[in-house]
Amino acid sequence: MSLKKVIPQHTVQTILETARIEEVVSDFVRLKKRGSNLIGLCPFHQEKTPSFTVSPSKSIFKCFGCGKSGNAAGFIMEHEHMSYPEALRYLAQKYQIEIEEHEPDPEEIAAFNERERMLNLNSFAQQYFSEVLFKTDEGKAIGLTYFKEREFLEPVIKKFQLGFSPQLRDSFSSHALTHGYASELLLSTGLSIGSTEKLYDRFQSRVIFPIHNLTGKVIGFGARILGSDKSKAKYLNSPESLVYEKSKSLYGIYFAKNAIIRQDNCLLVEGYTDVISMHQAGIEHVVASSGTSLTIEQIRLIKRYTKNITILFDGDPAGIRASMRGIDLILEEGMNVRVVLLPDGEDPDSFARNHRSSEVLEFLSETSKDFVSFKTSLLLEDSKHDPIQKANLIKEIVQTISLIPEPIYREVYVKECSRLLQVEEQTLLNELNKLLRQKFAKQAAVPIADTSLHTTQQEYVVSGPESQTGYFQERELVKILLEFGGNILTQTEIDEDGFPIEQEESVARYIIEDLKADAIEFIHTTHQKILEIITQELKNNHIPDEKFFIHHPEPDVAMLSIDLLSSPYEVHNWERKNIFVKKEYSSLQQIVTSNLLRYKDKVIDYRLQQLSEEIKKTSNLEDQLILLEQKRRYDQIRKQINERLGIIISK
Ligand code: CTP
Ligand code: MN
Repeated sequence: MSLKKVIPQHTVQTILETARIEEVVSDFVRLKKRGSNLIGLCPFHQEKTPSFTVSPSKSIFKCFGCGKSGNAAGFIMEHEHMSYPEALRYLAQKYQIEIEEHEPDPEEIAAFNERERMLNLNSFAQQYFSEVLFKTDEGKAIGLTYFKEREFLEPVIKKFQLGFSPQLRDSFSSHALTHGYASELLLSTGLSIGSTEKLYDRFQSRVIFPIHNLTGKVIGFGARILGSDKSKAKYLNSPESLVYEKSKSLYGIYFAKNAIIRQDNCLLVEGYTDVISMHQAGIEHVVASSGTSLTIEQIRLIKRYTKNITILFDGDPAGIRASMRGIDLILEEGMNVRVVLLPDGEDPDSFARNHRSSEVLEFLSETSKDFVSFKTSLLLEDSKHDPIQKANLIKEIVQTISLIPEPIYREVYVKECSRLLQVEEQTLLNELNKLLRQKFAKQAAVPIADTSLHTTQQEYVVSGPESQTGYFQERELVKILLEFGGNILTQTEIDEDGFPIEQEESVARYIIEDLKADAIEFIHTTHQKILEIITQELKNNHIPDEKFFIHHPEPDVAMLSIDLLSSPYEVHNWERKNIFVKKEYSSLQQIVTSNLLRYKDKVIDYRLQQLSEEIKKTSNLEDQLILLEQKRRYDQIRKQINERLGIIISK
């Protein structure tokens, strides 16, 4: 293995421009010609009639069944479960494009070598512990006997590379030293403790569970005591190191990832032994958080393979309550969480050993509940007869629902909770909207005149019709920029002598100048990025076209562009939000102007709302007057905007 090098941006662009989407896709999907497009059966969801479309002219694919879309790199990432750089390398190879990668600097090389050496030693240690387990009297008598008592069979012991560390205080350390491993390395991996002068083994007289990363490399170890000596920790684990970051790893992920993809679900358990027993029962889409609550990095690791998580709890209510917070994080990531409560006294380990695998699977599918309903019924138990507690409970549940990024899911959960809690749906909705508005206020500061606040939030949460953020209007403007940026607008202006003169200007420049005049910046990071890219290109007298964005080396820009360019105008959303939409563009000028005005209207609307709140909070009379004056000015601008909008719309 060699040190990963960085692909230069211009090469990324070359790769993306060279790759022909229809050729890339055809390696995996049978495509048929349909007009200027090609269609086939979608590889990302089950379907009988083809809705997977490839557009060679736009170089994108889009499935109208499941909604997946992207460019050639996106297809490879999705289909082959590759990272972005991996997909680029794949395409480079297919099209024989040479990647002149930048040479890593000495610091990078040093860190890389250190990592490699640590992984190397870990692998050496794993082999040692396994050999002790299977080949020494001590290992067989103590370690193997222990595993047999726990009903771990040989195939699963071998698969998970379990081992045993002998009782002697430095057996592994001296073994490694005689094989030429440096003391520093023994200490940095945490396999040994002590000092370079005298090393001792961290793990003594324990069974060993190697922890693997995604690619199957051993990054650390868990070591279990054999008996139940309460004075000693049940497990000792490798310390954090260059190769073992606890918050970023999940026990079992290497052995589970293919099954997770196949099942489109990931079972989450607590411990090493739970994972192993489930595997032994033939249930392989399972990983363990190793006793702590999930971190965001762990959640994203799972999200690479599936959007669905099922958490298995052993029926200890205190433990469940403690995990609630962590589960909120999963919802926030837009994943679907289900929960299974195991029968009293069982954990996944015992349950998997005491039941046939078909029974386990049946139990999971029959008793799993979505998290929101699960949390609701659990908390409802606690607050049955106490109205105040019930009010708190409602707040807490709504808080959880407000974290879910997709409005449709929020709606479903509100309905379900209204039923479970026997509370009017509207009551829940009011509470929900309140929270969502607070969230906006934080995320979406107003981008007009004196403010240019950005949010780092990648995605917006929109609170239905009341959304004041102008997100949709912003999106529409970006879409117009991408699609019509190069079109020319002709305007008639009156010169000093009263003669009409025709001015020609591109849509892109028109919009950008107009926004600049009001010092407006987009709130959504990627929207603003696109705006800045166009501004930059305009300076070089170049108006970028659709392809430029679809092949843009920055993945968020490419992805958003594809999304905007491949989706029809969001008539549905617009109509619901009572926003006028033209099916056909009678005049591009009209469309551009009215969209700009609508966007500004939203921006001001939002600013006004903020001002009203500020006014309420201020007790100083002078400040109040200043704010009121500001408000009056905004009101005036808004009136003008609406007048102009009225004219344009009625034209
Ligand atoms: N754990 C730990 N250190 C401890 C206790 C627990 O690191 N002192 C972690 C381990 O990753 C363990 C998980 O938390 O696997 C769950 O703990 P527990 O349920 O106590 O352990 P099990 O793996 O179920 O072990 P056993 O079945 O042998 O009791
Ligand atoms: Mn256990």
